[in-house]
Amino acid sequence: MNQIGCDKYTEHRQELIAAFKEVRQQTLNLTSTLSAEDMQIQSMPDASPTKWHMAHTSWFFEAFILAKFQSGFSWHDPMYHKLYNSYYNALGEPFSRAKRGMITRPSVDEIRDYRENINARMTTLLTECRDAQFKEIAPLLVIGLNHEQQHQELILTDIKHALFQNPTYPAVFPHDGARETQPDQRWLAVEGGEVSIGYAGDGFCFDNELPRHRVLLDDFEISNRLITNAEWLEFMQDGGYEKPLLWLSDGWAWKNENQAKAPFYWVHEDDEWQAFSLAGLRSIKPNEPVTHINYYEADAYARWTGCRLPTEQEWEHAATLLSAKDADEVLCLSQGLSQGLRWEWTSSAYLPYPGFCPAIGNVGEYNGKFMINQMILRGASGATQCGHSRFSYRNFFGPSARWQFSGVRLVRLD
Ligand SMILES: [Fe+2]
Repeated sequence: MNQIGCDKYTEHRQELIAAFKEVRQQTLNLTSTLSAEDMQIQSMPDASPTKWHMAHTSWFFEAFILAKFQSGFSWHDPMYHKLYNSYYNALGEPFSRAKRGMITRPSVDEIRDYRENINARMTTLLTECRDAQFKEIAPLLVIGLNHEQQHQELILTDIKHALFQNPTYPAVFPHDGARETQPDQRWLAVEGGEVSIGYAGDGFCFDNELPRHRVLLDDFEISNRLITNAEWLEFMQDGGYEKPLLWLSDGWAWKNENQAKAPFYWVHEDDEWQAFSLAGLRSIKPNEPVTHINYYEADAYARWTGCRLPTEQEWEHAATLLSAKDADEVLCLSQGLSQGLRWEWTSSAYLPYPGFCPAIGNVGEYNGKFMINQMILRGASGATQCGHSRFSYRNFFGPSARWQFSGVRLVRLD
């Protein structure tokens, strides 16, 4: 799906209906090799069962669009409204996140029926409503499509975590995200000054990418590529995980509590490091970007090198500036966006931009209330859906989260 613009909705009604069908189908495509048992399990409170993702993305359309705009509306099943509401307190008390794996009924087949029911009702509404009503529905529809794309990435990261608990390391997909090797290290000079940050186009963006505003940046240099597995191994062999001076206090406590010695999913077997992927266990490829490291690890690594992580403003400014130059200079910043490599940790806390206004209505709970205790990641990963990335995109996770496809890019002062 290409990025769907918000302007001139009514002129693009057919395009939006086609996008709806495509995104809904993509969820089924991603889950086609999973068994009903795979789709049921929940391996930790942060990760949800595949079946829950399939239902919740349908509930989103039912709760935010059909409930408001469909004449004669009634819930597909009133109980689903409780089970598959993720965190929208304005819509009622959501079911416990940590217990989503306990919902053995409805079955996967019943959730497939639910999806079909929502698809049919949505398609009828989108096709038959008047232009004036379509204008009201379309912004919510576009959020719903972007929302489902976010959950498509979560389906992959969550099932990977679940399958990793199985010592047979099952392979469920032919590949596991991008495996591009990295070019030689170069430092790209970026001129600072007063620069504008935030979404500036006329297409879709989330509320947290606005308003566009000015910031003052010093000059800096940013790496043309991500840190590789080989470089991370050097960090490990140099005792990086054992040197307290490299670590933030919370990071040191996390590391000790979890006995972390290597990136998540790395397994030392047969005298070599291997990594679990959705394609099963495989040898570490030295020149691939390292992945599944958390903020604490990324920060410690940066300190070990004498460099630092970019701020989110530096990252966005560099990506925008370099993408306007010739191909060689763009390198992995834009490659990370167009092809998807790793979500890149920044040193920026997830905070509202000056003048931030949450989206209007109950969907206002989507982003703003999470602006506490989380760090920003920029770019995209191999699991990010096509068209679901932009320079102003703000992903966010807690500093100890390792199950996303996250990596490291460094900056240094000019
Ligand atoms: Fe959601």
